[in-house]
Amino acid sequence: MLQDKITQYTAEINAFTTQNADELEQFRIKFLGTKGIIKDIFDEFKAVSPEEKRTLGKVLNEFKQLAEAKYQTLKDGSTEAESSKDSDTDLTLPGEGFEIGARHPLALVRREMVEIFSKLGFIVAEGPEIEDDWHNFSALNFPEEHPARDMQDTFFIKKGGETGDIALRTHTSSVQVRMMEAGKPPFRAIMPGRVYRNEAISARAHCFFHQVEGLYVDENVSFADLKQTLFYFVQELYGAGTQVRFRPSYFPFTEPSAEMDISCTICKGAGCGMCKHSGWVEILGCGMVDPNVLENCGIDSKKYSGFAFGMGIERIANLKYEIKDLRLFSENDARFLKQYKTSLI
Ligand code: PHE
Repeated sequence: MLQDKITQYTAEINAFTTQNADELEQFRIKFLGTKGIIKDIFDEFKAVSPEEKRTLGKVLNEFKQLAEAKYQTLKDGSTEAESSKDSDTDLTLPGEGFEIGARHPLALVRREMVEIFSKLGFIVAEGPEIEDDWHNFSALNFPEEHPARDMQDTFFIKKGGETGDIALRTHTSSVQVRMMEAGKPPFRAIMPGRVYRNEAISARAHCFFHQVEGLYVDENVSFADLKQTLFYFVQELYGAGTQVRFRPSYFPFTEPSAEMDISCTICKGAGCGMCKHSGWVEILGCGMVDPNVLENCGIDSKKYSGFAFGMGIERIANLKYEIKDLRLFSENDARFLKQYKTSLI
């Protein structure tokens, strides 16, 4: 009868074992499925007499639990068995290759510049990209309403107010002011950083770019020191034999001021598209720090003198890597960036 069936199936369940997922599924369907043995037995149970129900009910539930427990144990075991199969994987096989990243060309050039100047004792100084009028203009001898302010198409954040105009810095000369205000000479530092100018974006101009400016203030600093420092820098960066020439120029914060050209790094002076067939390319502005600037920063201009220079990192990188379109530096096109793989970390 029903009790006999249960005894028989209990023996079958107890004896059952498998590590095979298909066999286990067969077991589940046979006993626990919607048309399985347990369902049948429960159906039959409905028809038994009330006295029998009392004794059989408990047996039946235990039987059901047994089937479920067996199924669960074997299922856990088989997933264990399945995953332990993984350990058969040949661990000596080579792994999948992965690509390492590349340094941004501007970062590479900046680092090289920092290294060269550090050999001459220049430290790195940094300052905020959002500047007030004083640090970006007034302290640097740009008089109010002076047309020189228009030379640098400024992005203003706030006009007027207690602190005066607030703007995105147009050059890292602002860091020179901060440095001189905060300390005492001698100063010998370079200021790498991002600067902003309100220019239409094209292959040759961008609304932001990067500069390295430099400052050296001490007793008896002369234009000869400036020339020698920049000459050394250029030999290190572009190779021995690179020529330099200085042309008179104007900046409000330096007097006298000059622009420096180098012999074209691409054609070595023979004439090419990069140097517009002149053999020379301009790379920086420089000059002796105007005494007004020293005084504005609390430095005795009778006792101290100094030189300053400033250049765009993009320009320096162009001459190194012949990158003709400035926009490539900020578009993050992986095909462009991948070319600058380096062993430097
Ligand atoms: N600040 C100047 C610029 O951004 C560069 C410069 C720096 C020129 C120092 C002379 C001396 O154009």
